Amino acid sequence: MNAALVADALAGLTAPRKTLPCKWLYDATGTRLFEEITTLPEYYPTRTERGIFDRHGADIAARIGPRARVVEFGPGDGVKAVQVLGHLRSPAAYVPVDIAADWLKDAAGRVARAFPALEVIPVVADFTQGFDLPLAPPLLGFFPGSTIGNFRREDAASFLARLRAALGEGARLLIGADLVKDPAVLVAAYDDAAGVTAAFNLNLLVRLNREGGADFDLGGFRHQAVWNAEAERIEIHLVSLRDQGVAFGGRRIAFAAGETIHTEDSHKYRPDGFRALAAEAGWREEALWTDEAGLFSVWLLGT
Ligand SMILES: C[S@@+](CC[C@H](N)C(=O)[O-])C[C@H]1O[C@@H](n2cnc3c(N)ncnc32)[C@H](O)[C@@H]1O
Repeated sequence: MNAALVADALAGLTAPRKTLPCKWLYDATGTRLFEEITTLPEYYPTRTERGIFDRHGADIAARIGPRARVVEFGPGDGVKAVQVLGHLRSPAAYVPVDIAADWLKDAAGRVARAFPALEVIPVVADFTQGFDLPLAPPLLGFFPGSTIGNFRREDAASFLARLRAALGEGARLLIGADLVKDPAVLVAAYDDAAGVTAAFNLNLLVRLNREGGADFDLGGFRHQAVWNAEAERIEIHLVSLRDQGVAFGGRRIAFAAGETIHTEDSHKYRPDGFRALAAEAGWREEALWTDEAGLFSVWLLGT
């Protein structure tokens, strides 16, 4: 049993509008599926952000300067870290922070193999909770992939402020934020034709069955991605296909047909909106890079 997962899931599934925190999407199957998502034709964020890092790598490196000590929040497979560290001038240290311990090991190993002289110090932690960093300031935070989009706007502001405090004096942050665009493009990116994102989302129920002792019938739910125009976010849900009950945590959780579990948000930003969010959190814009089609943004923020 995974006590933290069970506590989070019980709170979420007994709320008036059912939710599950997206940080639990990343078990071994979830991480493998996410890696597959990043290669799908509909999923533009990864290749677009990587294109920005390559196209503007020299400028990014010049602005960041030599001997950077980089702290990455949620490195995933570590591929973007290898790419960006490869552009930087003699980076001195790399601290990946992730809740998914096995994936973190892979990411740290990938970076250490690519840069044998680099000090690599992985930290297993939930970055939404307090944690200590093993290096003294000044530090460069690295937060790609628009993971910031998983936070509600008000939570994003307080999270960015906490990152600034955690990184300490002289903090800087290289951060990726996905941009508002045609809803059809957005929905396709989160509901691909091959059904990989659907499998990624449904895996949360597999995980609750395995690690939380629940008895979800996987055939009783389907994946749904919707654009919430007012909040400018993609919402990911699991829709109950019928009236049903699920045994979990000593209770029976009732689902009406059509009722959903809201499993993830991906907020999209406009450049002005992101600039204002960063400013609210005490960050100042040093540079902004985007791709030619204006799909994605990468920012260097300072204090
Ligand atoms: C969407 S993936 C992005 C991976 C990679 N940064 C990229 O750009 O492709 C989110 C990453 O953040 C991690 N993560 C999500 N929530 C987290 C949390 N609360 N604490 C620590 N890591 C978290 C996941 O395990 C995963 O590595």
